[in-house]
Amino acid sequence: MDDSSIITQSGVSRPSDLFDKVVNLCKRRGFVFPSAEIYGGIRSTYDYGPLGTLMLRNVKNAWWRAMVQERDDVVAIDAAILTNPKVWEASGHLATFTDPLVDCRNCKERWRQDQIGDTCPKCGSKDLTDARPFNLMFKTFVGPIEDDSNVAYLRPETAQGMFVNFANVMGSMRLKPPFGIAQQGRSFRNEITPGNFVFRTREFEQMELEFFVPPAEAPKWHEYWCNERLDWYRRFGIAAALLRLRVHEKEELSHYSAGTSDVEFDFPWGWGELEGIANRTDFDLKAHAAHSGERLEYFDQASGERYVPYVIEPAAGATRTMMAFLIAAYDEDEVGGERRSVLRLHPHLAPYQVAVLPLSRKETLTPLAREVLHSLKTLFMCEYDDTQSIGRRYRRQDEIGTPLCITVDFDSLDDGAVTVRDRDTTEQRRVAISDLASEITSHLARPFGDYRPTDH
Ligand code: GAP
Repeated sequence: MDDSSIITQSGVSRPSDLFDKVVNLCKRRGFVFPSAEIYGGIRSTYDYGPLGTLMLRNVKNAWWRAMVQERDDVVAIDAAILTNPKVWEASGHLATFTDPLVDCRNCKERWRQDQIGDTCPKCGSKDLTDARPFNLMFKTFVGPIEDDSNVAYLRPETAQGMFVNFANVMGSMRLKPPFGIAQQGRSFRNEITPGNFVFRTREFEQMELEFFVPPAEAPKWHEYWCNERLDWYRRFGIAAALLRLRVHEKEELSHYSAGTSDVEFDFPWGWGELEGIANRTDFDLKAHAAHSGERLEYFDQASGERYVPYVIEPAAGATRTMMAFLIAAYDEDEVGGERRSVLRLHPHLAPYQVAVLPLSRKETLTPLAREVLHSLKTLFMCEYDDTQSIGRRYRRQDEIGTPLCITVDFDSLDDGAVTVRDRDTTEQRRVAISDLASEITSHLARPFGDYRPTDH
């Protein structure tokens, strides 16, 4: 360990300025920008740049593949963000989705009391107001008249869209528990203290599954989803040592939960939640049945079996997870006597899978390089770069996590082959252009990082 490293909570040594380096890289290389920066931004709101947009999409696709595409028992929906406010009354969000807000009478700063105790972190004063509940839902009005009858809320979680559509989905898709409904999308919370870059923002993306099960099977499925979800983060490149599963204490459980375990990541400031896996029991279906007057239960006509399913909910944040993948992937090493920074991202998460780099801008090379680019573009996200020296271009691709660089050189014109360079090992090999697509496909499909499927 050198002087600039620290041991974080998981016991792993990392650069002490890791967080600043990642935030800086995000801005410099077009992952994440402060929102509306030309107007001075707006606190803790971010815009995703060209590379961040690609990576966030890849994170969501990786989740989608595992949670929807590769399963036989999950279907998906895409519910409205603005919905009938009765949904939030029934779900308990209107009454209980609050944080305890305190003001510092000395410096006028506002805080979440559960995060600061009795002392203002800014000025050290203990002269704080009593805590009062602050509802985190953003309120708006539907239509031109701003009165109480037109109030609506931006959804604070995607989950309720699945509960209110339970009967529609089960009926239209002829499903029987155990089955799941998955959804990805924006959620909004008027957080009192957003911060730590995109860890806690007021607008963010969630990836949630509501998995409906016979009540007696709930404990078994809860354990199943805890293992499954922990495994997913590892499969996509986060080292096992940087992850843990933490069981919630009784006092911290949400109003709907009979048991929650969080998948936590060792962020540079300590352990933080990536995903909560809750046993929501039959709380939501029963609450919506009571408020709507509709029967929300499973009924088997043949056997006469009837019950309200329990729900196991793995609820992840896409934007927060993307940040964890970036932090876990950031590395520095030495190549050819030169220091480089490299994002060792899983190839499926990297913004570009392939960069095509003609050795020179000479007219003789450009047509072949463009031909290679266009043959690969239909299969992979590719970047083309013909600026600066080849060494600098490799460094740039390393820094944005591109797993493979394809160099088209003058020999390529004669031998119909190109050089393929591996981001992690920097090894180079010659590959026939006709074999490129299948070589890249098998490279991208390899198990990644320290992941071993049988470890847990
Ligand atoms: N439906 C249950 C639910 O929403 P949650 O633990 O409040 O549970 C799930 O949220 C996930 O959404 C969190 O684990 C986190 O990854 C993400 N998330 C929650 N609030 C967030 C915020 N303000 N900014 C970014 N991500 C957030």
